[in-house]
Amino acid sequence: TTTYGIAVIPGDGIGQEVTPAALEVLDAAARRHGVAFTRTTYDWSCATYLREGAMMPPDGLDRLRGHDAIFLGAVGAPGVPDHVSLWGLLIPIRRAFRQYVNLRPVRVFEGVPSPLRGVRAGEVDLVVVRENTEGEYSEIGGRLNRGFPDEMAVQEAVFTRPGVTRIVDYAFTLAGTRRGRLTSATKSNGIVHTLPFWDEIVAERAAAYPGVTWDQEHIDALCAKLVLDPARFDVIVGSNLFGDILSDLAAAVAGSIGIAPSANLNPERDFPSMFEPVHGSAPDIAGRGVADPIGAIWSAAMMLEHLGHPRPAAEIVEAVAAVLATTDTRTPDLGGSATTSEFTEAVLSRL
Ligand code: NAD
Ligand code: IPM
Ligand code: MN
Repeated sequence: TTTYGIAVIPGDGIGQEVTPAALEVLDAAARRHGVAFTRTTYDWSCATYLREGAMMPPDGLDRLRGHDAIFLGAVGAPGVPDHVSLWGLLIPIRRAFRQYVNLRPVRVFEGVPSPLRGVRAGEVDLVVVRENTEGEYSEIGGRLNRGFPDEMAVQEAVFTRPGVTRIVDYAFTLAGTRRGRLTSATKSNGIVHTLPFWDEIVAERAAAYPGVTWDQEHIDALCAKLVLDPARFDVIVGSNLFGDILSDLAAAVAGSIGIAPSANLNPERDFPSMFEPVHGSAPDIAGRGVADPIGAIWSAAMMLEHLGHPRPAAEIVEAVAAVLATTDTRTPDLGGSATTSEFTEAVLSRL
């Protein structure tokens, strides 16, 4: 048996509900391939913040560092400002551990109707490659003149040559292993400094990937095309904020943001990577046991794949697909009436 040590941070809201579901499926799939996980659970959350004044202890990142991977549910709860909870836990992990690639695959599963007319199962299979450590999510700037009539907020978007180059290279390489199509999300028509620079680097790097056909779309038009013709996309690369928005949009096109997974990757493997569903803590449905666990379960599969076990990873995704294709067991976000644990049981019995 190969054993991995993983750090588990269930977090807030439905993070507490989908995390155990995903870990159960993970263990069941891994076990049959001689893979096991030792888990260390950290109860870092908004409750921790309200009790202790911080989302995680001062040595929190050091405690995570030694693990083979991190699995996170979701962070954020009413009563704690989002910029406090997210910049106190999620964002520092992504940045400190150089998780500069955020991979967010989207598929339309058989049995899950897209809210869009004419989109059929199997036709949509794309990946959003989101830049995850710079761009619009920067710490440069601030709030000035609080409480005065000329109060203002300023935040600099940061695009570095090495930062853009590595995410663009990652996306071109990934496209080369898929259908060979890359779309770069831009807004160089309206933004003067950063996105023209992004575009230049994309065009430069393209020369190294002759097998990949690429184009660029302005983010506003790209959103429209994702709705009008999602099947045309293979890999979409975007900045931190564009990638964030595109991933919820694409997931919704595939039926629900509850089904979307993500991998925050440190490709050099100097630090642990982190796996988490794309969705948040969903306070509006938390505590009722009806959250869709697919995003978290699929994220666990991405973790297995990252650790070098593509077979159990594929088996997890196939089991989810089979439950959706052959039964009407699904959570309310997909039009069903199953609970989180009923859906999870169905996946476990498929495995
Ligand atoms: P959200 O993703 O939590 O919820 C948006 C909508 O989608 C809600 O109606 C919710 O019920 C629904 N939804 C989300 N996941 C679902 C699932 N698995 N099953 C069924 N329905 C699901 O986004 P939000 O409302 O913008 O944010 C709520 C909180 O979560 C905020 O505090 C926000 O900052 C935080 N958040 C955290 C993360 C993260 O930890 N990675 C991601 C996004 C938002
Ligand atoms: C996500 C989330 C986070 C992000 C928020 C909660 C900071 O929306 O993981 O998609 O914007 O990265
Ligand atoms: Mn998001």
